[in-house]
Amino acid sequence: MRRTLVAGNWKMNGSRASVAELVDGLLAGAGTVASAEVAICPPHVFLAEVGARLDGGPVALGAQDLSEHVSGAYTGEIAGPMLAEYGCRYVIVGHSERRAYHGEDDALVARKLATAQAAGMIPIACVGETLEEREAGDTETVIGRQVDALLDGPGVVALASAVIAYEPVWAIGTGRTATPDQAQSVHAFIRGRIAARDAAIADGLRLLYGGSVKGANASELFAMQDIDGGLIGGASLDADEFLTICHAG
Ligand code: 13P
Repeated sequence: MRRTLVAGNWKMNGSRASVAELVDGLLAGAGTVASAEVAICPPHVFLAEVGARLDGGPVALGAQDLSEHVSGAYTGEIAGPMLAEYGCRYVIVGHSERRAYHGEDDALVARKLATAQAAGMIPIACVGETLEEREAGDTETVIGRQVDALLDGPGVVALASAVIAYEPVWAIGTGRTATPDQAQSVHAFIRGRIAARDAAIADGLRLLYGGSVKGANASELFAMQDIDGGLIGGASLDADEFLTICHAG
């Protein structure tokens, strides 16, 4: 049985004061979330402080990105072992904003997945098509290519300790959520693609949906057979809204 995961991606938002308030708000309600595992991914600079507040409680810590390198002359980058040392259980790799604004390609995302695992963290690898690709009927071609990069690089066994998030680019921050059927269809496609290499790993893999998830639509999405939780952007910046989503898990 796959345990639902609800992960908040705060993106580049917050101040020391607002982050402290948000974490305290989450902790005030997280104890009653029974069905889902909950994680938050603050900007790197807040990890130490947020980690100290979470302090091994019901909310896990994650990061939004890591370097493909373990150490060295890579100015401005953050290494996996550093994130692990600060208590990160999860790290997002291949978010569409990294792919679009930082030129991250499928091969780099696959290497980052392996680097995260080598540091003892669970990568949340993001895949998703643009609106143009969907309208051209290329959704499965694009998602297939992105998933194959993980299967051909780190390999199917690596996916036994990873999470995949389907985040259609057209649904991110737009208020335009994929319908449960649209999301389920892509999730089933991803699981099937992985099952062709290893059925047991595909069956155990948690597949999250991301893109304008809110308290009002989380239940119907999470009820779908192959949707095992969510990767939440904007709504994770509001403690009450995020907790409503967590309770839907
Ligand atoms: P929104 O929930 O703001 O659409 O963002 C989704 C996302 O990109 C999470 O990684």
